[in-house]
Amino acid sequence: MLTLEKINVSYGSIRALHGISLEVKKGEIVALIGANGAGKSTTLRTISGLLKPSNKDSKITFKDVQIQGALPHKIVEMGLSHVPEGRRVFPEMSVYENLLMGAHSRKGKPGQADFERVYHHFPRLKERIKQLAGTLSGGEQQMLAMGRALMARPDLLILDEPSMGLAPMLVEEIFHIIEDINVAGTTILLVEQNAHLALEISNRAYVLETGEIVLEGLAQELATNEDIRKSYLGE
Ligand SMILES: Nc1ncnc2c1ncn2[C@@H]1O[C@H](COP(=O)(O)OP(=O)(O)O)[C@@H](O)[C@H]1O
Ligand SMILES: [Mg+2]
Repeated sequence: MLTLEKINVSYGSIRALHGISLEVKKGEIVALIGANGAGKSTTLRTISGLLKPSNKDSKITFKDVQIQGALPHKIVEMGLSHVPEGRRVFPEMSVYENLLMGAHSRKGKPGQADFERVYHHFPRLKERIKQLAGTLSGGEQQMLAMGRALMARPDLLILDEPSMGLAPMLVEEIFHIIEDINVAGTTILLVEQNAHLALEISNRAYVLETGEIVLEGLAQELATNEDIRKSYLGE
């Protein structure tokens, strides 16, 4: 569904990604794990068109179409939605209005079925539909950010640290919901510092270290890898 080939990205003179290649197949949950500053968010921003690779031989392919250099809203239209780090909901808008915004960059008007799908995964949002997004708890804002992304009916959902700053119980809940969204037919690329849970729900994983993929494999295998356990699972 998605392939990245030899992606280099720099912020001015700072090189953030160096030769990243990875693949997400239809139906998978793929985790991208790595320490703070490894380049995880940069990778996701590059996929969704917010950053451009600096090298000519880089290639990003989504559903057999090359998307490097495409505008972010075009990429959303094609079926790729990005839930950024730190949620970024519109605080002065209601839950309902935030969800409507999610459907904005998609062709065709949102229907009741789109809202129902969001309520199915996030019943709490339905209860708070008129509430201003800025008054939601952190966990609820994360749910809203994910619900808003679902309104665009994505084939691929990319999530940047959905568990960040949430209480442990909520983290478990969010991870269950991510699994449910996947089972319901959406492919997922998941960036996480919580490598434990990420590996638990993923099919495969990549490990990013200072802008390079240093390890990749089945999530189950990485979870038992000695280096990974020491470096990322705190064991
Ligand atoms: N807007 C920016 N300007 C300059 N450097 C940045 C910017 N965003 C990120 N970086 C740098 O790029 C590297 C990768 O950052 P990031 O992708 O945010 O890592 P991660 O998401 O894995 O924590 C870091 O060294 C970071 O300091
Ligand atoms: Mg990040």
